Amino acid sequence: MAHLTTEVNYAQRLHQAFEERSARIAVMGLGYVGLPLALAFAEAGFSVYGVDPDLAKCRAIARGESYVGDVSSERVAEVVREGRLHAQPAPDVLAQADAVIICVPTPLSKPKTQIFPILFRRQKA
Ligand SMILES: NC(=O)c1ccc[n+]([C@@H]2O[C@H](COP(=O)([O-])OP(=O)(O)OC[C@H]3O[C@@H](n4cnc5c(N)ncnc54)[C@H](O)[C@@H]3O)[C@@H](O)[C@H]2O)c1
Repeated sequence: MAHLTTEVNYAQRLHQAFEERSARIAVMGLGYVGLPLALAFAEAGFSVYGVDPDLAKCRAIARGESYVGDVSSERVAEVVREGRLHAQPAPDVLAQADAVIICVPTPLSKPKTQIFPILFRRQKA
């Protein structure tokens, strides 16, 4: 019973954190899907931590530059300047995140579980 109460309290705190925009969002993979999504959360007022092994993408974001066609550098620069979008190659921020959104490549060739080696390979690095 105490276990259930703890879970309910956690769910309520999490809900409140999303309502107040204090929840921390992590986005794994800052490509064509991940960057616009990370930007949308940052523009909505959340603190967003992007994780991508591609250092060039992390550095571009830190400079406030977009590398995705329909995302302007001005939008990226604004949320980076306001401290609401961060990008890094190390996945350690995932431990502090309230939500983790995975936007990594999922090749459709055999076997169908290829997403997992991609994730685990990076976490060991
Ligand atoms: N682009 C689309 O229009 C579209 C539409 C529907 C679904 N999807 C799906 O969304 C996912 C992402 O697609 P995309 O177009 O953004 O791909 P993308 O190649 O543009 O971006 C993927 C990003 O993930 C990064 N990455 C690779 N391994 C990682 C890891 N272990 N941790 C963190 N980041 C990692 C890559 O460096 C890259 O920046 C795929 O599964 C794709 O099938 C894409």
